[in-house]
Amino acid sequence: MQGRPAKTVRSALRPPLSLAPRARLRHNPRAHGTCHAPHPAIDPRSKLGDSHLTEFQPRVFSGVQPTGNLHLGNYLGAIARFVPLQDEMPAIYCVVDLHAITVKHDPALLAGTTREVTAAYLAAGIDPKKAIIFNQSQVREHAELAWIFNCIARIGWLSRMTQFKEKAGKNRENASVGLFAYPTLMAADILAYRATHVPVGDDQKQHLELTRDIAQKFNNDFADQIKELGLGIPNPTPSPELPDELFFPLTEPMIAGPATRIMSLRDGTKKMSKSDPSDLSRINLRDSAEEIAKKIRKAKTDPEPLPSEMDGLAERPEAANLVGIYAALSGKSKDAVLSEFAGQPFSIFKPALADLAVDKLAPMTGEMNRLLADPGHIDAVLRDGAGRASEIAGPVLRDARRIMGFLEGR
Ligand code: AMP
Ligand code: TRP
Repeated sequence: MQGRPAKTVRSALRPPLSLAPRARLRHNPRAHGTCHAPHPAIDPRSKLGDSHLTEFQPRVFSGVQPTGNLHLGNYLGAIARFVPLQDEMPAIYCVVDLHAITVKHDPALLAGTTREVTAAYLAAGIDPKKAIIFNQSQVREHAELAWIFNCIARIGWLSRMTQFKEKAGKNRENASVGLFAYPTLMAADILAYRATHVPVGDDQKQHLELTRDIAQKFNNDFADQIKELGLGIPNPTPSPELPDELFFPLTEPMIAGPATRIMSLRDGTKKMSKSDPSDLSRINLRDSAEEIAKKIRKAKTDPEPLPSEMDGLAERPEAANLVGIYAALSGKSKDAVLSEFAGQPFSIFKPALADLAVDKLAPMTGEMNRLLADPGHIDAVLRDGAGRASEIAGPVLRDARRIMGFLEGR
């Protein structure tokens, strides 16, 4: 099978995952060796490799690039959502430094930005004893599996990626091959752990669909080897398009909540982004309380008061964005925020939003700064996490190599 996989099999993983994950997990006192508190949700077999499982174990994986200027969109769309998941199933959170070199980067700054994302993970409440936190380049399996996936994914699939088109811009001939192949590395990040759940912002949806396509094509192309070697997991939703045993799961994207796409504070039609030249367009996670308040005060809006219903925000992207930010920071629905502020002008809403943002973000900024003052501690967290990540990815890659038919000389 060389073509794009059939869409009909996209839900191949849904039935088992619709069960409460917690109910299907077992307590394992050995899961993280002796120096960590046992994770209530880690299956003993996850450390040994998963090849003899009868179903895919629920596991979360996500990543953030260490490219500077971590902002409110990264926090609300991704990092804040990582925190509760660490109590629901085994979780792996990566600082994806191999992705950061797909565009021009300064080697002298990379260690600092890697520590900064790690500090944000920790300050947001990710517990390195429960979840695995590490930087991608310390676990060689990512790059190795990415190469295999480069030989699975089709040029046509990658050519359709909107993020590549945006990032490469007009001068596509001059973009790095790594920027083009970036989604195969992202698929490898996820599938090296056979992760089943991936929380991300809306901009990553297309990359996650590609991850499913790669998993599906791998499962199909190598179905005979997977079966012969006894490395398959029964396909939870048998269909004519998919083999009855799978090696890689069809990962579930988790793109939900009021903050999957936080927009620029200067232009409600553009995503809040690390690379926007205007610092006023975003709230950085290391901004001071004064800077946060100033940026919200200066945020672009329109002259109308806030409506009482969501329909009233349809043609008002800037107002909709600020309401979404308020909802995500307060844990309320957008409807609830509108019923609280219906009829109020921005001169009332903006100071309320600024107070809320400072209340929520200032303690985290303080904690990030405290953590960053001790780089040795951050590096130790990443080293420990990399060791634990390798223990999971190593056996998966060993099996993948056997499936590919590589001769093992040692
Ligand atoms: P990146 O900065 O590209 O590594 O993104 C890290 C995570 O933040 C990914 O899950 C993104 O989808 C998410 N993210 C980035 N920008 C935004 C945004 N403006 N709104 C919501 N989520 C975002
Ligand atoms: N591509 C993602 C981004 O730019 C970061 C990322 C890399 C990622 N590998 C991942 C996210 C694996 C989730 C899972 O935001």
